[in-house]
Amino acid sequence: MWDRKHLLDIEAFSRTDIENLIALAKRLEPFSGIDKSKKFKPLGLCSGQIMTLWFEPGKENSTRTFGSFPAAMMRLGGNCKVFDEATSSMTKGESLEDTTRILSGHSDVIVDRHHDADHVYTVASASSVPVINAGNGSAQHPTQTLLDIYTMVKKFGRIEGLKVAVVGDLKYGRTVHSLVKGLEKFGVHATGICPQGLEMPGEFRTAGYEERIIDMNDIGRALSELKPDVVYATRIQAERFSGNSGTYDYIIDKAVLSGLPKNAVIMHPLPRISELSREIDADERSIYFHQADNGVPVRMAILCLLLDHEFE
Ligand code: CP
Repeated sequence: MWDRKHLLDIEAFSRTDIENLIALAKRLEPFSGIDKSKKFKPLGLCSGQIMTLWFEPGKENSTRTFGSFPAAMMRLGGNCKVFDEATSSMTKGESLEDTTRILSGHSDVIVDRHHDADHVYTVASASSVPVINAGNGSAQHPTQTLLDIYTMVKKFGRIEGLKVAVVGDLKYGRTVHSLVKGLEKFGVHATGICPQGLEMPGEFRTAGYEERIIDMNDIGRALSELKPDVVYATRIQAERFSGNSGTYDYIIDKAVLSGLPKNAVIMHPLPRISELSREIDADERSIYFHQADNGVPVRMAILCLLLDHEFE
């Protein structure tokens, strides 16, 4: 069971924890601002509280996570500030632990993204306030997994019994690492589809996980044979390669979509590069932009639970 001290990895969550969080996110969604056709009153649950965003610049740059965490905090009536290592006293040699102690002294919650997978755990051990993993290198992205599961529940009304294909860069794609583990809690065994060289690392494979290594030019055939309910595509993480990543490129286009079951959906944590053709954006089965929007209510729920705010 999740102790609600920090949010560091998906392993900390039981199925019931995820279900409770999803139920809370559903109740908070009308106050999240993601439905532009509806008016709402902002909530004051986090009034006076401060979130510190600690995102390593460069390879770990972010649009969705860096944007939706402050949006969630502000929809709850709280405030945000950004910590920048490059302009901090870390440049003078201040330790990670001392820096964290200082930051947690003037924050109520810290959101951390760093290329070093251990960074968030060190920050959590030195912090006096909750710490959230916003993506730790190529390891995990647990809040993305929670919003991915929320998106599936919104679409299908359930997780149990879904057939999910995770596609693309399964080696470096942190979102699929935590997603496969999250789905397993609901008895869903994901199927990986990837090129040789980008297989899922052993530490993220669950007991029921299966993998098909294919020539990615055959992605349409592989998916039409599998008949998944959810195609969860991922970007080839070029920034994590030393060699040429272009050899792994693939594309999901109208032709691929035509071979899928009519109720199947295409998800993607985004950003996309070329793996999702823009010609499928208008198809109602392409739900990746709705998926990104769902980051706000889900992160509102995460903040309420970590900061111990009841929402009736
Ligand atoms: N999905 C996701 O984590 O996107 P960003 O890298 O833009 O935050």
